[in-house]
Amino acid sequence: MQLVITMFFLVSSSFLWSSVSVHANVLMVLMEGDSFISGRTDQRHSRNYNDIRMHKEMIGREHDVLLETLLDSGSYTKLYSYSHLLNGFAIHVTSSKAISRLRNATGVRSVHEDVKLAKLTTHTPDYLGIPSGVWPTLGGARSAGEGIVIGMIDTGINPSHPSFASYPSFGANGSMNGYTGKFKGKCATGVMFPFTACNGKIVGAQYFARAAIAAGDFNATRDYASPYDADGHGSHTASTAAGNFEIPVIVNGFNYGNASGMAPGARIAVYKALYTFGGYMSDVVAAVDQAVEDGVDILSLSIGPSSVPPGPSAFLNVLEMELLFATKAGVVVIQAAGNGGPLSSSILSFSPWITTVAASITDRKYNSSIILANGQSLSGMGLAPPTPGEGLYPMAAAADACRHNTSIGLVESCQNPEPFIPPLAHGKLIICTYTFDFEFDSASISKVAETIRSIGAAGFIMTMDPDVGSEEVKGTTVPFAVPGIVLNNIEASTALWQYYNSRTLRARTGRAIAFTATAKILDGRLATYTGQVPIVAAYSSRGPDVNNALLQTADVLKPTVMAPGTSIWAAWSPNSEGDQYARGQDFALVSGTSMATPHVAGVAALIMQKHPQWNPSAIISAIMTTTDVADKFGNPIMAQEKNQLSPATPFDYGAGSINPSRAIDPGLVFVSKFKHYIQFLCALPGVDEESVRRATGAGCPSSRKAWGSDLNTPTVTISNLVGTRKVIRTVMNVGEETETYNVTMVEPTGVKMKVSPHLFTISQNATRRLKLVLDATDATNAYSFGQMLLQGNLGHLVRVPVAVYVSSILGS
Ligand SMILES: *[C@@H]1O[C@H](CO)[C@@H](O)[C@H](O)[C@H]1NC(C)=O
Ligand SMILES: *[C@@H]1O[C@H](CO)[C@@H](O)[C@H](O)[C@H]1NC(C)=O
Ligand SMILES: *[C@@H]1O[C@H](CO)[C@@H](O)[C@H](O)[C@H]1NC(C)=O
Ligand SMILES: *[C@@H]1O[C@H](CO)[C@@H](O)[C@H](O)[C@H]1NC(C)=O
Ligand SMILES: *[C@@H]1O[C@H](CO)[C@@H](O)[C@H](O)[C@H]1NC(C)=O
Ligand SMILES: *[C@@H]1O[C@H](CO)[C@@H](O)[C@H](O)[C@H]1NC(C)=O
Ligand SMILES: *[C@@H]1O[C@H](CO)[C@@H](O)[C@H](O)[C@H]1NC(C)=O
Ligand SMILES: *[C@@H]1O[C@H](CO)[C@@H](O)[C@H](O)[C@H]1NC(C)=O
Repeated sequence: MQLVITMFFLVSSSFLWSSVSVHANVLMVLMEGDSFISGRTDQRHSRNYNDIRMHKEMIGREHDVLLETLLDSGSYTKLYSYSHLLNGFAIHVTSSKAISRLRNATGVRSVHEDVKLAKLTTHTPDYLGIPSGVWPTLGGARSAGEGIVIGMIDTGINPSHPSFASYPSFGANGSMNGYTGKFKGKCATGVMFPFTACNGKIVGAQYFARAAIAAGDFNATRDYASPYDADGHGSHTASTAAGNFEIPVIVNGFNYGNASGMAPGARIAVYKALYTFGGYMSDVVAAVDQAVEDGVDILSLSIGPSSVPPGPSAFLNVLEMELLFATKAGVVVIQAAGNGGPLSSSILSFSPWITTVAASITDRKYNSSIILANGQSLSGMGLAPPTPGEGLYPMAAAADACRHNTSIGLVESCQNPEPFIPPLAHGKLIICTYTFDFEFDSASISKVAETIRSIGAAGFIMTMDPDVGSEEVKGTTVPFAVPGIVLNNIEASTALWQYYNSRTLRARTGRAIAFTATAKILDGRLATYTGQVPIVAAYSSRGPDVNNALLQTADVLKPTVMAPGTSIWAAWSPNSEGDQYARGQDFALVSGTSMATPHVAGVAALIMQKHPQWNPSAIISAIMTTTDVADKFGNPIMAQEKNQLSPATPFDYGAGSINPSRAIDPGLVFVSKFKHYIQFLCALPGVDEESVRRATGAGCPSSRKAWGSDLNTPTVTISNLVGTRKVIRTVMNVGEETETYNVTMVEPTGVKMKVSPHLFTISQNATRRLKLVLDATDATNAYSFGQMLLQGNLGHLVRVPVAVYVSSILGS
């Protein structure tokens, strides 16, 4: 099986999922012996950069010595030494002998073949209630996130974008503008990336491409040997997390409103490790190692593997292990869930130390209409301007406005201006057809718009080919410079054709000779804010979480939380190498769990600014226990399935839809530390102590029988309940005062739940153990859901979702 690293975004509403095989002989070799982080209890707050540098040099030398003694010179190239989170290296080898020598060498803990990772506006601050609910408590928008550095592992950044301009308050001259924070990352200059690119808003920028280069996938013309974002994805995610406040989104001269990141005062550190073609795991691992060494506070990864990694457990793969050490170092790790929904068990981010983000649809809708002369109004899609004035414009079908002797294939798809007869087409609305060519990317709506402009037509009307019949039309979220509408349903398309045919006079040959059908297109760029939201997006990957490639489920709730991911406006890069539709634009409206992820990274920055002493698990706990599970109308949140909506479960949205103004003051938090995660790993079915030791360097605790469900998270997930299970949770009062909480339950089907105490008073900073007993009463042989609700007398509300699969009511 080939794994592919994927950027989780949809290109113009189609899911890009390339499954490219690996040609590189790149290996990641993990060594016995400590990395900087595994060897200490060091946290974010006490960094000694001198120690870090000395450790790095020593480890690098050890790797070189090992390789020199083991392998013939010239038979390999060391690509990276990893020293901060992992002790290991990436190496490009040319002989299989080298591989077996490495596997057998003393001091080598494990050898992993590299895997390729393919690619997986913001009205959202308002939608999430951040400007009124959170920013004021942090000194206003421009200082919201101040002091926090968010590391973006992505396709780089477009440094000249206004979303990343330096604020006067950041200082305004020279490189870094006098940034004097604790972050110590480098600014690698290069093509399109002058040294002034690191301007204080961007505090560091590096790129990692050695494996991509070794594999022959890196094309310097297309991919840029610098942190510059030639794709758009990285600029989009960075601006969503920490882009500047009040940046007008102007596309084709039209202002779509202002954009802002979630934490406009946070700094951005760029680690480019992904390219238009995707990326390699060993480059991503190097990027993460460097980011934590440099001192990022939060990591945002809108990427993941293309399928469940092989091995005894998905939790033990190299990236998950590295992210465990990042957590140990005090860094909050946010990762996209994947775009494999609505299939169940399609989650591609597995571990409880990672915050896995699902994507929702928000309340902003763009709707475009066309008014026919007979008064009929048809609605569709298209971010396009209206036809000018109040007047109506004649329509002509593409085939009726083209030469008949053309050698160009199908003229109906309007991909080429050449067959059009200019005097016939001029000033008319041209009717084009969305065919399978569009589905397979050999045609695009952007090309239609170009054709219309070059033939001087008044606009276009896309109708659906009945054989395609899809509502998932590609390219409708691209802003067009000419009037146009996509009638993305068969009924509207049929109505249009009926009207056109009834008003078009034809010669006996069939040739149209008079065009009397007329219409006007209304403005498609005006947003409306309506509807039952949030809704879980169809593409958002679903739980349950799995332990391995056999899809055996684990005692972990995934996804973790849900954030807006559909039709998000944010910064772009005009090169747009990965998405031809958005080429030339400074902003793009795109969708995916990739887009949801930086929303949570930005919110984590706000909480970290407010509560600098909290460890990553406390920050995530705050986000999880304060989510919403009801929509705007107070009804249970729904999820898009294939063709319908159904009530969403925690396997669709995790703990729920994020609510930042509540997350900033959660009342209670559930805290886990590194040793608890090791205990969790040791409790996984099919994972023995040796596998845990090989992956983490840490041993399992002595023989107490344990379950994955013992980990102190604000969720209870039991993948295999047989008889009775006791679960302990420990809460800490992070509120300002002593508070009295009562605990109520909603029991999952087939389970009786008891909690003690069910009433308790907890003083500030104190902790309290809660004992839950889950008793199987009915073997459901399916997951069912419930919750535990802790209600404080000072208004805090702490919700803990419960998911249980009852296999048997009889205890063993
Ligand atoms: C190296 O490992 C292989 C199995 O991976 C084994 O067959 C071989 O004997 C080992 N060679 C040495 C020199 O230890
Ligand atoms: C440049 O920055 C320094 C310190 O950061 C400041 O003292 C100085 O006034 C700035 N110069 C200009 C021209 O803004
Ligand atoms: C590299 O990319 C450029 C620009 O996209 C392209 O013209 C060229 O053919 C590519 N080179 C290779 C070797 O693929
Ligand atoms: C948008 O941002 C501009 C500054 O760039 C500001 O003057 C304007 O008031 C903002 N508009 C809204 C609707 O917030
Ligand atoms: C789009 O807008 C038109 C006119 O405002 C309205 O009649 C139509 O119902 C809307 N369509 C959708 C899908 O919202
Ligand atoms: C098609 O016909 C036009 C005249 O109607 C002529 O000018 C043109 O050369 C012809 N093209 C082809 C490809 O035969
Ligand atoms: C709780 O911890 C906070 C932060 O460390 C501290 O400021 C506060 O005084 C502590 N309160 C009590 C009652 O110990
Ligand atoms: C739990 O506490 C809340 C807040 O003090 C209170 O409103 C509610 O009635 C209590 N519920 C029960 C069942 O005691």
